[in-house]
Amino acid sequence: MEWKWKTIIEPFKIKTVEPLGFTTREERVRLLEQAHYNLFNIRAEKVLIDMLTDSGTGAMSADQWGGIMRGDESYAGARSYYNFEEQVRELTGLREIIPVHQGRAAEKILFSVIGGKGRYIISNSHFDTTRANVEYSGAQAMDFPAKGALDFDKTAPFKGDADVAAMERFIKDKGAENIPLCVMTVTNNSLGGQPVSMANLKKVQELCRRYGIPLFLDCARFAENAYFIKLREKGYNQRPVKEIAEEMFELADGCWMSSKKDALVNIGGFLAMNNAEWAQKCRQLLILTEGFNTYGGLAGRDLEALAIGLREVLDENYLHYRIRSSAYLGEGLIKKGVPIVNPPGGHGVYINAKKFLPHIKPQNFPAQALACALYLEGGIRGVEIGTLMFGRRDAKGNFIAAPMELVRLAMPRRVYTQSHIDYVIEVCGSLAKDKKKIRGLEALEVSPILPHFTAKLRPL
Ligand code: F0G
Repeated sequence: MEWKWKTIIEPFKIKTVEPLGFTTREERVRLLEQAHYNLFNIRAEKVLIDMLTDSGTGAMSADQWGGIMRGDESYAGARSYYNFEEQVRELTGLREIIPVHQGRAAEKILFSVIGGKGRYIISNSHFDTTRANVEYSGAQAMDFPAKGALDFDKTAPFKGDADVAAMERFIKDKGAENIPLCVMTVTNNSLGGQPVSMANLKKVQELCRRYGIPLFLDCARFAENAYFIKLREKGYNQRPVKEIAEEMFELADGCWMSSKKDALVNIGGFLAMNNAEWAQKCRQLLILTEGFNTYGGLAGRDLEALAIGLREVLDENYLHYRIRSSAYLGEGLIKKGVPIVNPPGGHGVYINAKKFLPHIKPQNFPAQALACALYLEGGIRGVEIGTLMFGRRDAKGNFIAAPMELVRLAMPRRVYTQSHIDYVIEVCGSLAKDKKKIRGLEALEVSPILPHFTAKLRPL
């Protein structure tokens, strides 16, 4: 349906409700202290608006809950598996389909098979678990974001694109034989949930084909990416999003999906490819770590809900509401003087903490300080994407800051309404007035792998 009105209406009615976690400011002061200024340690009941992630936090539809009841829990050959397989194959066109319990399980399995020392995985940008799994295998994860992707003030339609020329220089330098895979993350989560254009995907595919490097999609948010292509790329305006998504997958030799995003489920994922030899090796690891080929760490009911979600997510009324909601949040923040990554991403808005809090040095985690301040001010939970997540020490122990300091406010799917978003804008506006009072943090404990999940900090 053409939507000519400014008001964003949620394209659903609400049948089941959950209370929000109201707390007082005094409580939040204490809770932050107890959590060592790490919002992963706060009980969800103590969060009012939870924008930590859009992963597994969505609301399922009545149809999906119906699927949950129909789930076939047979150990081998369950009907739910075949429903899932058919749906994934229809969307992706790929032959070998391997269920896993979530995205990183697919990554662990795939990179155990194709990674290893001396190898490089190239990408527009690896998500943090992808990078961690590549590096854990001994390989190196190399990012080639589009020029200007890190210029957060500049608006461009497809800032998730890869820099194809830089990729090619790297391939020539290291040798294609040392690069077992190129992965395009759609949308590009680490750099603001920005979409990748079909034109760029085609160029990357052409490059990969020329050098004999398989191309995979990390397709957690494929439907949002396809909708952005429809909105922003020439020639796609009249095409159904489903067709656009299928065209994206046609370019790939494989993919993996954290289905906790665009399959609208609370748990689930898959790995899919055409290479039967890789698939066979992956399935051996699947049985070792996840489960038998036809359930891969999921219950039959999860597979059923996943299959339905993959269809529902391509509903254009839903996608309109989804993408407009993020844009509305972004526009609201800008009006309140809060700098964001422009334009707003698909699954949320990323506040540019480096610009917002120039008085806090990178080693004092400006984005983490801002995330804590947002919780303190209004019970809102976002996530840091900055030096806590990506900061490093070089061989001599010198501190290396992350290139960006962002706080991601991710939008769970079909969960919050426009008034919740108005509240978030109001709280951010209030913080903006007193931002000089926000103090940096110092690290007490930081682990080498995925440090942001477990780090302990204290205010300066
Ligand atoms: N790839 C991308 C692009 C992701 O965003 C995620 C997860 C994964 C892979 C890993 O999948 O969580 O199912 O194991 N992103 C979540 C987030 C955690 O908050 O952005 P998973």
